[in-house]
Amino acid sequence: MPVISQRSSQLGTENAFVVLAEVGELQRLGKNILSFCIGMPDFPTPQNIQDAGVTAIQSGKHGYTPSAGILELRAAAANFLNQTRGLKYDADDVVVAAGAKPFIMYSILATTDYGEEHEVIYPNPGFPIYESQIKASGAVPVPLHLRESRGFNFDPADLESKLNDKTRLLILNSPQNPTGGIVSKAELASIVEILDQYPNVWVFSDEIYSQLCFEESFSSIASFPSMTERTIVGDGCSKTWAMTGWRLGFAASKILSPIFTKWVTNTESCASHITQWAGVEALTGDQEGADMMRSKFLERRDLIVGLLNKVPGINCLNPGGAFYVWPNVTEACDMIGAKDSEEFRQRLLHESGVAVLADIHFGRRVPDDGQHVRFSYAASNEDIIEGVARMDAFIRQNTR
Ligand SMILES: Cc1ncc(COP(=O)(O)O)c(C=O)c1O
Repeated sequence: MPVISQRSSQLGTENAFVVLAEVGELQRLGKNILSFCIGMPDFPTPQNIQDAGVTAIQSGKHGYTPSAGILELRAAAANFLNQTRGLKYDADDVVVAAGAKPFIMYSILATTDYGEEHEVIYPNPGFPIYESQIKASGAVPVPLHLRESRGFNFDPADLESKLNDKTRLLILNSPQNPTGGIVSKAELASIVEILDQYPNVWVFSDEIYSQLCFEESFSSIASFPSMTERTIVGDGCSKTWAMTGWRLGFAASKILSPIFTKWVTNTESCASHITQWAGVEALTGDQEGADMMRSKFLERRDLIVGLLNKVPGINCLNPGGAFYVWPNVTEACDMIGAKDSEEFRQRLLHESGVAVLADIHFGRRVPDDGQHVRFSYAASNEDIIEGVARMDAFIRQNTR
């Protein structure tokens, strides 16, 4: 039997998809399941963007495009990044791909070498693809713990202690998956002060939830003058314009854009031509759909946080962005005799039909920070009310 590479056998996954398969199986067996697992807007793509996709098909946008993307989209994305972050990108600085996700891999591949012990610091808990791709690229993953006591930010002193001559890349994500936490402008300033002592470290700033910031306006680390050149800004259309299945993301870097273009040529060739024209409409057209979704997410955040904090044994911080909450379930686990958040999650799913993800699906548990689960509130108000009521009944009925 030929051998499978270690790189492939060590590849991680997004456990949301694993739990979704479990949910699908239970639903096939006729169980009534309310799912809060998937990080995907539950709205259709706004009509004007759908129409732009149809027009692109009907007007013959069927062939390859340049690997970096069509100029109209690169210019629109540069303009969007400049207007929303106060940056100064040109179309040439932007590269387009099939989602924001490929740029995680391209950024790691562009800044580290295989087997050289190059280190990549990334948020924990965090989007699971960071750790998976760091390992698959032959770099060393260095988790940076996000703490509930800091509003799901990391301690800058902790970052400082992890930086060294081997560090090549720091991954930041705000608003954050899975906690919904935001890194404020003041917190970014203290991170920049530390990074100024390490001028050889690149930053990949994953800003895919940038337009889902509720209380304060979004700040990018790239807007700090000493960081502009060495920051890669990643964003895309999946979350802001409910386009997850269209597959469209972009990244900006004045230095690395030619390298990213080569990576796209070597992997995807280009993002879908049709989707790229829909993306031009998303970025430059009527924003009524995106504005409506943002206000719905805010309404739902307030609803779910209020409800969860009435459930015995649950404590839920009010997150500043994205569409996730990350309630602390440590006390609830004790009350029902569950050994950890994963047992809590499984019992909640099988006994009460409520599907959430556990903290272990987002990396290693943060020492001394307790047990957490993630609710994605990309769900209707009715489902949120019913889901939290089921959780409340589940804990009350099982309390020893
Ligand atoms: C933090 C983060 N980055 C990147 C992505 C990937 O986005 P896309 O669907 O555009 O590839 C996600 C999707 O869930 C995410 O949560």
